[in-house]
Amino acid sequence: MKLKDRVTVITGGAKGIGLAYGRRFVKEGAPVVIGDVDDKAGAAAVAALEKEGGKALYVCCDVTKKAEVDALFDAAVKAFGHVDVCIANAGIVNDGSFLELKEEDFDRVMAVNVKGVFLTGQSAARAMIAGKRKGVIINIASTNAIVVQHGQVTYPVSKGAVNLLTKVMAISLADNGIRVVAIGPGPTRTEMLDEVIKNHPTFMKNVGLRTALRRPAEVEEIAGVAAFLASDDASYITGQTIYAEGGRLALNYMMPEK
Ligand SMILES: NC(=O)c1ccc[n+]([C@@H]2O[C@H](COP(=O)([O-])OP(=O)(O)OC[C@H]3O[C@@H](n4cnc5c(N)ncnc54)[C@H](O)[C@@H]3O)[C@@H](O)[C@H]2O)c1
Repeated sequence: MKLKDRVTVITGGAKGIGLAYGRRFVKEGAPVVIGDVDDKAGAAAVAALEKEGGKALYVCCDVTKKAEVDALFDAAVKAFGHVDVCIANAGIVNDGSFLELKEEDFDRVMAVNVKGVFLTGQSAARAMIAGKRKGVIINIASTNAIVVQHGQVTYPVSKGAVNLLTKVMAISLADNGIRVVAIGPGPTRTEMLDEVIKNHPTFMKNVGLRTALRRPAEVEEIAGVAAFLASDDASYITGQTIYAEGGRLALNYMMPEK
Protein backbone atom coordinates (compact mmCIF):
# COMPACT_ATOMS: atom_id res chain seq x y z
CA MET A 1 0.00 0.00 0.00
CA LYS A 2 1.80 3.08 -1.32
CA LEU A 3 -0.54 5.68 0.19
CA LYS A 4 -1.47 4.22 3.57
CA ASP A 5 -3.26 6.80 5.76
CA ARG A 6 -2.54 9.64 3.32
CA VAL A 7 -5.76 11.62 3.51
CA THR A 8 -6.78 12.51 -0.04
CA VAL A 9 -9.31 15.14 -1.13
CA ILE A 10 -10.69 14.71 -4.67
CA THR A 11 -12.86 17.38 -6.28
CA GLY A 12 -15.33 16.09 -8.87
CA GLY A 13 -14.73 12.65 -7.34
CA ALA A 14 -18.32 11.41 -7.52
CA LYS A 15 -18.08 10.10 -11.09
CA GLY A 16 -15.82 9.40 -14.02
CA ILE A 17 -12.05 9.59 -13.63
CA GLY A 18 -12.52 11.28 -10.23
CA LEU A 19 -14.21 8.17 -8.86
CA ALA A 20 -11.42 6.01 -10.31
CA TYR A 21 -8.86 8.08 -8.36
CA GLY A 22 -10.92 7.35 -5.22
CA ARG A 23 -11.06 3.63 -5.95
CA ARG A 24 -7.30 3.40 -6.57
CA PHE A 25 -6.37 5.56 -3.56
CA VAL A 26 -8.60 3.53 -1.22
CA LYS A 27 -6.88 0.38 -2.53
CA GLU A 28 -3.55 2.01 -1.65
CA GLY A 29 -4.77 2.65 1.92
CA ALA A 30 -5.74 6.34 1.67
CA PRO A 31 -8.87 7.77 3.34
CA VAL A 32 -10.74 9.67 0.60
CA VAL A 33 -12.84 12.83 0.80
CA ILE A 34 -14.94 13.63 -2.27
CA GLY A 35 -16.10 17.17 -3.01
CA ASP A 36 -18.71 17.37 -5.77
CA VAL A 37 -21.95 19.08 -6.77
CA ASP A 38 -23.77 15.81 -7.54
CA ASP A 39 -25.03 14.69 -4.13
CA LYS A 40 -26.66 11.49 -5.40
CA ALA A 41 -23.52 10.33 -7.21
CA GLY A 42 -21.40 11.45 -4.23
CA ALA A 43 -23.38 9.28 -1.82
CA ALA A 44 -23.17 6.32 -4.23
CA ALA A 45 -19.40 6.86 -4.59
CA VAL A 46 -18.88 6.80 -0.81
CA ALA A 47 -20.94 3.62 -0.55
CA ALA A 48 -18.84 2.01 -3.30
CA LEU A 49 -15.53 3.02 -1.69
CA GLU A 50 -16.67 1.77 1.73
CA LYS A 51 -17.79 -1.51 0.17
CA GLU A 52 -14.26 -1.87 -1.19
CA GLY A 53 -12.94 -1.54 2.39
CA GLY A 54 -12.03 2.14 2.29
CA LYS A 55 -12.75 5.12 4.51
CA ALA A 56 -14.62 7.78 2.56
CA LEU A 57 -16.59 10.98 3.06
CA TYR A 58 -18.71 13.07 0.67
CA VAL A 59 -19.01 16.85 0.99
CA CYS A 60 -21.20 18.93 -1.32
CA CYS A 61 -18.81 21.49 -2.79
CA ASP A 62 -18.92 23.74 -5.82
CA VAL A 63 -15.26 24.47 -6.58
CA THR A 64 -16.12 27.94 -7.90
CA LYS A 65 -17.20 29.05 -4.41
CA LYS A 66 -14.39 29.80 -1.96
CA ALA A 67 -16.48 29.25 1.18
CA GLU A 68 -17.53 25.78 -0.04
CA VAL A 69 -13.96 24.83 -0.96
CA ASP A 70 -12.69 25.94 2.46
CA ALA A 71 -15.51 23.96 4.10
CA LEU A 72 -14.47 20.86 2.11
CA PHE A 73 -10.95 20.98 3.54
CA ASP A 74 -12.24 21.79 7.04
CA ALA A 75 -14.46 18.70 6.81
CA ALA A 76 -11.50 16.55 5.69
CA VAL A 77 -9.38 17.75 8.63
CA LYS A 78 -12.27 17.26 11.05
CA ALA A 79 -12.91 13.70 9.82
CA PHE A 80 -9.34 12.45 9.33
CA GLY A 81 -7.04 14.90 11.17
CA HIS A 82 -5.10 16.39 8.24
CA VAL A 83 -4.75 16.52 4.43
CA ASP A 84 -1.85 14.85 2.56
CA VAL A 85 -3.00 14.75 -1.07
CA CYS A 86 -5.39 16.85 -3.15
CA ILE A 87 -6.58 16.03 -6.66
CA ALA A 88 -8.14 19.10 -8.30
CA ASN A 89 -10.13 17.09 -10.80
CA ALA A 90 -13.51 18.87 -11.15
CA GLY A 91 -13.79 20.12 -14.70
CA ILE A 92 -16.38 20.84 -17.38
CA VAL A 93 -16.26 21.07 -21.14
CA ASN A 94 -18.36 22.94 -23.66
CA ASP A 95 -18.47 23.12 -27.41
CA GLY A 96 -18.90 26.31 -29.41
CA SER A 97 -17.19 28.06 -32.27
CA PHE A 98 -14.94 31.04 -31.59
CA LEU A 99 -17.27 33.44 -33.44
CA GLU A 100 -20.44 32.23 -31.71
CA LEU A 101 -19.29 31.50 -28.14
CA LYS A 102 -21.25 33.41 -25.49
CA GLU A 103 -19.52 35.38 -22.75
CA GLU A 104 -21.32 33.45 -20.01
CA ASP A 105 -20.17 30.11 -21.46
CA PHE A 106 -16.56 31.33 -21.51
CA ASP A 107 -16.88 32.53 -17.89
CA ARG A 108 -18.48 29.30 -16.65
CA VAL A 109 -15.74 27.00 -17.98
CA MET A 110 -12.97 29.31 -16.75
CA ALA A 111 -14.66 29.51 -13.32
CA VAL A 112 -14.75 25.72 -12.82
CA ASN A 113 -11.56 24.71 -14.63
CA VAL A 114 -9.22 27.55 -13.62
CA LYS A 115 -10.60 29.47 -10.64
CA GLY A 116 -11.76 26.15 -9.15
CA VAL A 117 -8.25 24.68 -9.40
CA PHE A 118 -6.79 27.87 -7.86
CA LEU A 119 -9.25 27.88 -4.93
CA THR A 120 -8.80 24.14 -4.37
CA GLY A 121 -5.00 24.37 -4.45
CA GLN A 122 -4.90 27.36 -2.12
CA SER A 123 -7.19 25.77 0.43
CA ALA A 124 -5.36 22.40 0.15
CA ALA A 125 -1.96 24.04 0.66
CA ARG A 126 -3.19 26.03 3.66
CA ALA A 127 -4.56 22.83 5.25
CA MET A 128 -1.30 20.95 4.54
CA ILE A 129 0.83 23.75 6.01
CA ALA A 130 -1.42 24.09 9.09
CA GLY A 131 -1.21 20.32 9.64
CA LYS A 132 2.59 20.33 9.04
CA ARG A 133 2.21 17.80 6.19
CA LYS A 134 4.54 17.48 3.23
CA GLY A 135 1.68 17.16 0.78
CA VAL A 136 1.11 16.60 -2.91
CA ILE A 137 -1.35 18.54 -5.09
CA ILE A 138 -2.32 17.02 -8.43
CA ASN A 139 -4.12 19.27 -10.92
CA ILE A 140 -5.97 17.73 -13.83
CA ALA A 141 -5.09 19.24 -17.20
CA SER A 142 -5.58 17.53 -20.59
CA THR A 143 -3.82 16.98 -23.90
CA ASN A 144 -6.01 19.93 -24.91
CA ALA A 145 -3.67 22.11 -22.84
CA ILE A 146 -1.16 22.00 -25.69
CA VAL A 147 -3.10 20.98 -28.80
CA VAL A 148 -6.56 22.28 -29.55
CA GLN A 149 -9.68 20.70 -30.92
CA HIS A 150 -11.88 22.09 -33.64
CA GLY A 151 -15.09 23.53 -32.14
CA GLN A 152 -13.71 24.06 -28.64
CA VAL A 153 -12.52 27.42 -27.35
CA THR A 154 -12.57 27.75 -23.59
CA TYR A 155 -11.70 24.17 -22.63
CA PRO A 156 -8.18 24.13 -24.13
CA VAL A 157 -7.56 27.68 -22.89
CA SER A 158 -8.56 26.63 -19.36
CA LYS A 159 -6.37 23.53 -19.42
CA GLY A 160 -3.39 25.55 -20.68
CA ALA A 161 -3.92 27.79 -17.66
CA VAL A 162 -3.96 24.72 -15.39
CA ASN A 163 -0.49 23.81 -16.67
CA LEU A 164 0.89 27.27 -15.83
CA LEU A 165 -0.95 27.37 -12.50
CA THR A 166 0.77 24.06 -11.69
CA LYS A 167 4.17 25.67 -12.25
CA VAL A 168 3.21 28.76 -10.22
CA MET A 169 2.00 26.59 -7.34
CA ALA A 170 5.05 24.29 -7.49
CA ILE A 171 7.42 27.23 -7.20
CA SER A 172 5.33 28.93 -4.50
CA LEU A 173 4.94 25.83 -2.31
CA ALA A 174 8.28 24.05 -2.72
CA ASP A 175 9.74 25.59 0.46
CA ASN A 176 6.71 24.28 2.35
CA GLY A 177 7.57 20.74 1.25
CA ILE A 178 4.53 20.54 -1.04
CA ARG A 179 4.90 19.09 -4.54
CA VAL A 180 2.48 20.24 -7.24
CA VAL A 181 2.07 18.26 -10.46
CA ALA A 182 -0.52 17.87 -13.21
CA ILE A 183 -1.84 14.98 -15.26
CA GLY A 184 -2.82 15.53 -18.89
CA PRO A 185 -5.10 12.65 -19.92
CA GLY A 186 -5.98 11.94 -23.52
CA PRO A 187 -9.59 10.88 -24.28
CA THR A 188 -10.67 8.60 -21.42
CA ARG A 189 -13.67 6.26 -21.21
CA THR A 190 -16.18 7.95 -18.91
CA GLU A 191 -19.94 8.46 -19.17
CA MET A 192 -19.14 11.84 -20.74
CA LEU A 193 -17.05 10.22 -23.47
CA ASP A 194 -19.63 7.46 -24.04
CA GLU A 195 -22.18 10.21 -24.69
CA VAL A 196 -19.85 11.84 -27.22
CA ILE A 197 -19.31 8.47 -28.94
CA LYS A 198 -23.09 7.98 -29.16
CA ASN A 199 -23.54 11.39 -30.82
CA HIS A 200 -20.50 11.22 -33.09
CA PRO A 201 -20.32 7.77 -34.71
CA THR A 202 -16.85 8.42 -36.21
CA PHE A 203 -15.32 9.52 -32.89
CA MET A 204 -13.67 6.21 -31.97
CA LYS A 205 -12.29 5.76 -35.47
CA ASN A 206 -10.78 9.25 -35.34
CA VAL A 207 -9.28 8.69 -31.88
CA GLY A 208 -7.76 5.47 -33.22
CA LEU A 209 -6.20 7.26 -36.17
CA ARG A 210 -4.85 10.10 -33.96
CA THR A 211 -3.44 7.94 -31.13
CA ALA A 212 -0.43 5.63 -31.36
CA LEU A 213 -2.10 3.07 -29.06
CA ARG A 214 -5.27 3.37 -31.21
CA ARG A 215 -7.74 3.63 -28.30
CA PRO A 216 -8.92 5.94 -25.52
CA ALA A 217 -7.65 5.39 -21.96
CA GLU A 218 -9.59 3.46 -19.34
CA VAL A 219 -10.11 5.46 -16.13
CA GLU A 220 -7.88 3.05 -14.17
CA GLU A 221 -4.94 3.93 -16.43
CA ILE A 222 -5.20 7.58 -15.40
CA ALA A 223 -5.77 6.71 -11.72
CA GLY A 224 -2.53 4.70 -11.73
CA VAL A 225 -0.59 7.79 -12.80
CA ALA A 226 -2.12 9.77 -9.92
CA ALA A 227 -1.21 7.03 -7.42
CA PHE A 228 2.41 7.16 -8.65
CA LEU A 229 2.57 10.98 -8.55
CA ALA A 230 1.12 11.10 -5.02
CA SER A 231 3.60 8.49 -3.78
CA ASP A 232 7.19 8.87 -2.58
CA ASP A 233 8.32 7.23 -5.85
CA ALA A 234 7.66 10.64 -7.45
CA SER A 235 9.49 12.62 -4.73
CA TYR A 236 11.64 14.55 -7.25
CA ILE A 237 8.78 15.53 -9.58
CA THR A 238 7.20 18.95 -9.16
CA GLY A 239 5.88 21.61 -11.56
CA GLN A 240 5.47 19.08 -14.38
CA THR A 241 2.46 17.88 -16.35
CA ILE A 242 2.61 14.14 -17.04
CA TYR A 243 0.68 13.24 -20.18
CA ALA A 244 -1.10 9.87 -20.23
CA GLU A 245 -2.29 9.97 -23.81
CA GLY A 246 -1.40 6.78 -25.66
CA GLY A 247 1.21 8.50 -27.82
CA ARG A 248 -1.18 11.11 -29.19
CA LEU A 249 1.21 14.03 -28.76
CA ALA A 250 4.10 12.10 -30.32
CA LEU A 251 2.11 11.59 -33.50
CA ASN A 252 2.29 13.92 -36.45
CA TYR A 253 -0.41 13.29 -39.09
CA MET A 254 -2.22 9.94 -38.58
CA MET A 255 -1.69 6.26 -37.89
CA PRO A 256 -2.11 4.08 -41.00
CA GLU A 257 -5.51 2.37 -41.25
CA LYS A 258 -5.34 -1.29 -40.15
N1 LIG B 1 -12.75 12.10 -19.92
C1 LIG B 1 -11.81 12.59 -20.69
O1 LIG B 1 -11.66 12.20 -21.86
C2 LIG B 1 -10.83 13.62 -20.15
C3 LIG B 1 -9.65 13.88 -20.87
C4 LIG B 1 -8.74 14.83 -20.39
C5 LIG B 1 -9.01 15.50 -19.19
N2 LIG B 1 -10.16 15.24 -18.51
C6 LIG B 1 -10.38 15.98 -17.26
O2 LIG B 1 -10.53 15.07 -16.19
C7 LIG B 1 -11.44 15.62 -15.22
C8 LIG B 1 -12.58 14.64 -14.99
O3 LIG B 1 -13.22 14.36 -16.22
P1 LIG B 1 -14.36 13.24 -16.35
O4 LIG B 1 -14.36 12.78 -17.77
O5 LIG B 1 -14.24 12.25 -15.26
O6 LIG B 1 -15.65 14.16 -16.16
P2 LIG B 1 -17.11 13.79 -15.61
O7 LIG B 1 -18.01 14.80 -16.23
O8 LIG B 1 -17.39 12.33 -15.80
O9 LIG B 1 -16.96 14.07 -14.04
C9 LIG B 1 -16.71 15.37 -13.55
C10 LIG B 1 -17.17 15.46 -12.12
O10 LIG B 1 -16.97 16.83 -11.68
C11 LIG B 1 -18.14 17.26 -11.00
N3 LIG B 1 -18.25 18.73 -11.10
C12 LIG B 1 -18.62 19.48 -12.18
N4 LIG B 1 -18.63 20.78 -11.87
C13 LIG B 1 -18.25 20.87 -10.56
C14 LIG B 1 -18.06 21.95 -9.65
N5 LIG B 1 -18.31 23.22 -10.02
N6 LIG B 1 -17.64 21.67 -8.39
C15 LIG B 1 -17.41 20.39 -8.00
N7 LIG B 1 -17.59 19.34 -8.81
C16 LIG B 1 -17.99 19.56 -10.08
C17 LIG B 1 -19.28 16.52 -11.69
O11 LIG B 1 -20.46 16.48 -10.90
C18 LIG B 1 -18.66 15.14 -11.92
O12 LIG B 1 -18.83 14.30 -10.81
C19 LIG B 1 -11.89 16.97 -15.79
O13 LIG B 1 -11.08 18.00 -15.26
C20 LIG B 1 -11.64 16.81 -17.28
O14 LIG B 1 -11.44 18.05 -17.92
C21 LIG B 1 -11.07 14.31 -18.96
